Amino acid sequence: MGSSSKDQYVVEMKNIVKKFPGVLALDHVNFQIRPGEVHVLLGENGAGKSTLIKVLSGAYLADEGEIYIEGQKVDIKSPHTAIEQGLRFIYQELSLVKDLDIARNMFLGMEPMRSARLGLVDWTKLYAQAGELLQRFHIDLDLHKTVGRLSVTQQKIVEIARALTTQAKLIVLDEPTDVLEDQSRHDLFEVIRRLKLEHGISFVYISHRYREVHEVGDRVTILRDGQNEGTYDVKELDFDAMIEHMIGGQLKKQYPDLTTPSQDEALRVENLSRKGVLNGISLTIKKGEILGVTGLMGAGKTELGRAIAGADSLDSGDIYVHGQKVKCANPERGIKNGIAYLPEDRKVLGLIQAHSIRSNYALPSLDRLSVAGLVQHHRLDQEAQEYMMKLSVKAPSMNTYVRQLSGGNQQKVVVAKWLGAHAKVLIFDEPTRGIDINGKREIYRVMEELLEQGVGILMLTSDYTEALEMSHRIIVMRRGSICKEFKRGEPQETDILREAIGEVDGVKV
Ligand SMILES: Nc1ncnc2c1ncn2[C@@H]1O[C@H](COP(=O)(O)OP(=O)(O)OP(=O)(O)O)[C@@H](O)[C@H]1O
Ligand SMILES: [Mg+2]
Repeated sequence: MGSSSKDQYVVEMKNIVKKFPGVLALDHVNFQIRPGEVHVLLGENGAGKSTLIKVLSGAYLADEGEIYIEGQKVDIKSPHTAIEQGLRFIYQELSLVKDLDIARNMFLGMEPMRSARLGLVDWTKLYAQAGELLQRFHIDLDLHKTVGRLSVTQQKIVEIARALTTQAKLIVLDEPTDVLEDQSRHDLFEVIRRLKLEHGISFVYISHRYREVHEVGDRVTILRDGQNEGTYDVKELDFDAMIEHMIGGQLKKQYPDLTTPSQDEALRVENLSRKGVLNGISLTIKKGEILGVTGLMGAGKTELGRAIAGADSLDSGDIYVHGQKVKCANPERGIKNGIAYLPEDRKVLGLIQAHSIRSNYALPSLDRLSVAGLVQHHRLDQEAQEYMMKLSVKAPSMNTYVRQLSGGNQQKVVVAKWLGAHAKVLIFDEPTRGIDINGKREIYRVMEELLEQGVGILMLTSDYTEALEMSHRIIVMRRGSICKEFKRGEPQETDILREAIGEVDGVKV
């Protein structure tokens, strides 16, 4: 390599080693990024993707290894150095300042100046530029709105828009489409393509939506257990081969065969309404049945789940669990009534970051696991351990803090937490988002076990394949109403999309 790397690579990481207590997160990783390429970084949960990125961004210091930017060796001691070098990052976890408005967040630390000497920010310019950036995503948001009041999806879009500047050499996106719906994903890919072709900007792209690899990627590097398994041209690697490199073995059957549900009712809701959000929703789920609910962003899936679980109040409507009418004024009541809700927004609502895996698991189950007010610790340990095994959560121990886990492993802990809640009805909001391919299969298997125990599952998902493969029936929502119900095996993905959009013409499929 030597001097030739100067022309060849925007960024070259050599022999990077990063250790955490009990974990060798990066084991002599080499990683090279060419100018103007989209380089996909792939690997299972905990493989080391985010860690590698954080070493490049200066968020972590490597224990060993070197980093070259356009052939020059650079010592990235802090995030500031990385920004100076023209590197931009969108982290897996949200990193906006909640109290500032959208526009200010987008230009934090890079404000256009009226007078640099006097430190005067050019506010007019700042708001104008922020508006332009958001328009690329066809997002119409009030730039003065405080970020803390936005939905997770909207916050993500603000972050993405912020990073996508032409001032960058390299833009790194760690699971950006995790929370994005189809239209916003296409907008994002479009912007990436343009920045790549017109400005020669390079991208590192991390995702567990494996189909995206061939859609946006030029090359792909696969990490496995902290090691670089190989770098390939996307064209030379078909989907199956790519997955096999990633998991280091043959891909097993992903979805279980669903057994026939019982005739007894697990959940019935009648005429649920909430002004402007839900319009007279009625549905039934049998014991041992999965009802899949799909629809575009804003169709009301999450709102439906939250309303049933008691997280949001209702204007009208009735809820029955096992034929008994219940009132869920809040999620705790919901759990007492046998309804557990796995929220879409895991990091914020799902887990306490500063607590261990074990105590997070215990939260919804404390009543159940207590005798005369005392928690039965051995039972708790046993159960928590069992779920960690079943879902193969990668962690040194159950006492590991949740914040030390990789993104996907945190998701698994939330799933385990609610699986363990022994509910009669489970509401899953995007159950496998951010989870790797084996983890997904394991979650589906546990769902199957729950069905055998007579649990009814309401699965809210924007992943149409998941809806098709893992539901007995599928409901499509549009603007707060149910617009279509399909039986298992009846629809294709395109049928669902067509219903979700609500028009036949002009559908991109
Ligand atoms: N701050 C930390 N403290 C301790 N261990 C950590 C820390 N950050 C990461 N790890 C560990 O390093 C390993 C790699 O984690 P990393 O977050 O890089 O995985 P990832 O490939 O991004 O996974 P995912 O797809 O789940 O996001 C994991 O075993 C993780 O638990
Ligand atoms: Mg990660």
